[in-house]
Amino acid sequence: MKIAFSPPYIDKDVLEEVQDTLQSGWITTGPKVKLLESETAKLASVKYALCVNSATSGLMLAMHWFGIGPGDEVIIPAYTYAATALAVIHLGAKPVMADVNPDFNINVDSVKKAITKFTKAIIPVDIAGLPCDYQELLDLISSPEIKSSFNPQNEEQMKLGRILLLSDAAHSLGAVYKNKPSASIADLSVFSFHAVKNVTTAEGGAICISLPKSFSESDVYAKMRLMTLNGQTKDAYSKSKVGGWRYDIVLLGFKMNMPDVCAALGLAQIRKYKDQLLIERKRVAMQYLDRLRQYSWAITPTLKNQDKESSYHVFALRIAGFTENQRDRLIEKISKKDVSVNVHFIPLPMLKYFSDSGYRIDDYPNAYNCYKGEISLPIYPQMTSEMVDFVVKTLADSYNNVSCI
Ligand SMILES: Cc1ncc(COP(=O)(O)O)c(C=O)c1O
Repeated sequence: MKIAFSPPYIDKDVLEEVQDTLQSGWITTGPKVKLLESETAKLASVKYALCVNSATSGLMLAMHWFGIGPGDEVIIPAYTYAATALAVIHLGAKPVMADVNPDFNINVDSVKKAITKFTKAIIPVDIAGLPCDYQELLDLISSPEIKSSFNPQNEEQMKLGRILLLSDAAHSLGAVYKNKPSASIADLSVFSFHAVKNVTTAEGGAICISLPKSFSESDVYAKMRLMTLNGQTKDAYSKSKVGGWRYDIVLLGFKMNMPDVCAALGLAQIRKYKDQLLIERKRVAMQYLDRLRQYSWAITPTLKNQDKESSYHVFALRIAGFTENQRDRLIEKISKKDVSVNVHFIPLPMLKYFSDSGYRIDDYPNAYNCYKGEISLPIYPQMTSEMVDFVVKTLADSYNNVSCI
């Protein structure tokens, strides 16, 4: 049996929605993007969600909107995908890394230690789909001591009056935090619709807006949308209407808009996400938990607790007592049996670009401990019970093989 890691969910509805767009005479940003935005906003329980061409773009755009740039610091976890850090660097700001908890998510005490008068944002990352400790983070940045060291440089920063909480929710579409969709908690939350995500537009993302009352969210949405379209007052769809040719460029924007043909893919999936696709993911995760319970070496991930429920994006297993080298050998053995597994993630300080920039893994011991035995198992709605059992059997056989050497 051959098991893929994370194939996209392409059914008849997806094909029909894409075909409808292709035949409509309009394939870039237009009505399908609007529909995907409203479905995303509904799922996240926010008024506005803005579609963009990737989560990386969404993070950059959110920070650009907040005026983050050279001289500013942004706190991120050392354990994440590189895009979280690269988005900060592209804006000219400095990523300051914090260590993580055993659940892979950013550690609030480590964040507290990293805050300086230059800190403009914190980007917690919902690793594997489990929401971060948002209430603790909000309490921290709203505390009088931390607020008094915040040094606003523009109108948006003055209006917020504290550090921006920008969630990297690339993995956590549909996750729950204290009985609410987790993307409704931080000021801004950015989903990814990349090809391996729970809902995909091939490449894409969305920014969910949940700012304090001092902001007009519709104005923020409109300004960010302008920023996805070169700062141009009219999108191509409006310009294509008869007589609608005149436009202006009113601010320094990027080109980060999502095309309708991509939105169509995600639209057909998101419509059945909560009632079908997410439930199927959970079924797979529960079967893994059940089958792995018998193995004392299997440290299964936190998927649900009193405050949180994951989006079941990645099944981030850890192998107790394994060194990095043993884990790598285990992956080799499993791969030979045609089961595709993965590692989420190599901590940033272990990647050349970041170690060349002076970050050291020794400063993030928990990130290293999470990484060294981590092995992500395939999880997606199309997985049958037989497929899950096959993955577990392959894993257990391979474990016995590696651990007895
Ligand atoms: C944690 C995290 N943040 C950001 C991204 C970037 O997402 P995108 O590929 O949509 O830019 C990813 C992509 O895998 C990710 O895993």
